[in-house]
Amino acid sequence: MKAVAWHGVGDMRVDRVPDPQLVNPRDAIIRVTSTAICGSDLHPYDGKIPSMMKGDIMGHEFMGVVEEVGPGVKNLKRGDRVVVPFDISCGNCHYCREDLWSLCDNSNPNAGALEAATGGFSAAGLYGYSHLYGGYAGGQAEYARVPYADVGPLKVESDIADEKVLFLTDIFPTGYQAAEQCGIRPGDTVAVWGCGPVGLFAIQSAYLLGAGRVIAIDRFPERLAMARDVGGADVLNYEELEDPISFVLKDMTGGRGPDHVIDAVGMEAHGTGVYDQVDRVKQFTKVQLDRATALRECILACGKGGTVSIPGVYIGFIDKFPMGAAFGKGLTFKMGQTNTHKYLKPLLDLIEAGKIDPSRIITHTVPIDRAPEMYRTFRDKRDGCVKVVLKPHAS
Ligand SMILES: NC(=O)c1ccc[n+]([C@@H]2O[C@H](COP(=O)([O-])OP(=O)(O)OC[C@H]3O[C@@H](n4cnc5c(N)ncnc54)[C@H](O)[C@@H]3O)[C@@H](O)[C@H]2O)c1
Ligand SMILES: [Zn+2]
Ligand SMILES: [Zn+2]
Repeated sequence: MKAVAWHGVGDMRVDRVPDPQLVNPRDAIIRVTSTAICGSDLHPYDGKIPSMMKGDIMGHEFMGVVEEVGPGVKNLKRGDRVVVPFDISCGNCHYCREDLWSLCDNSNPNAGALEAATGGFSAAGLYGYSHLYGGYAGGQAEYARVPYADVGPLKVESDIADEKVLFLTDIFPTGYQAAEQCGIRPGDTVAVWGCGPVGLFAIQSAYLLGAGRVIAIDRFPERLAMARDVGGADVLNYEELEDPISFVLKDMTGGRGPDHVIDAVGMEAHGTGVYDQVDRVKQFTKVQLDRATALRECILACGKGGTVSIPGVYIGFIDKFPMGAAFGKGLTFKMGQTNTHKYLKPLLDLIEAGKIDPSRIITHTVPIDRAPEMYRTFRDKRDGCVKVVLKPHAS
């Protein structure tokens, strides 16, 4: 079959590889009908995720039709149409039972390596996301093996288009969890850094959860336009501001600052100024793995007693962390990989009820053969690119 494979920094290729096979009784094989490139795929693409190996199959946002199931999968059958959550979770461990699916204790066969790097704790395995996260083949391919298929995939019974439900696999739940973590009260103001796919769903989710106003921050006009037109946010281009963003936001909110802030940017934040230069040197020399411009701004800008919600990915240590500001304002921090399973059904219901149309953020739909070029376009934010959907099978 064809699959998008990592071959080094900035080097994705479409390879011919063997079709996946059932390995365990609880596996399913999915014929992938649609798959997407995520902002998280840019981290291995940019060489920021350790333990990638040449030939690793990418992709964790995919859906399709069940081709085959193992004897342990009773709830799915050949021909069922499913969306697949990006975290691989057993459904039985302490964390899965607590709805903390991304923290599953059983699904990462290389847990030891991750434990060694993080002080003794592993997380769930992830599709197409390095050997530290299990070395699972991803879903940017014609077919994918889905472990624990009896608890992961959600059946889509209606004939709703792939494009409307594909983002249940990651970015819609991720934006939703980010907003939910804020504990929004009716009328609250939420500021969102980053108007990429995750930020755009965080904005829409904040409104779904009762926010009165969302202020969105980025520098790309087409993304800001989408935040305004699709999300209904007030938008700020941070490159056009004369004052530090925390002061601008304070002015916009009657002197109180936003009630909550969301960092939908993560470890590869764009920045200016001395801190950014220092971050870049430290990241290059691997002294510090994350560039935290957006996170620092979030903390400085958040109103007193507010929540800093962090869906953006961080993987290491951060210097110049404004701990004094966080402490002084009594902030709450919430973060982490999304517990996608928890959100699949409720968010599918919202989509089917017409409360949100996730397909509005798609800018590019292409055959999988064009994936290498689309990785570049998406990374460089060229051609108005916000979200890329890949079609593995010619229609
Ligand atoms: N927690 C999870 O489970 C989860 C799931 C999916 C994605 N993510 C992460 O969410 C983050 C965003 O993903 P995405 O797909 O939207 O990526 P993306 O790269 O398309 O979007 C990031 C956006 O942030 C903007 N940005 C960069 N620096 C900024 C700054 N200093 N201030 C404001 N905006 C800035 C960029 O211009 C861009 O529009 C990534 O770190 C990704 O890995 C996390
Ligand atoms: Zn993702
Ligand atoms: Zn588990």
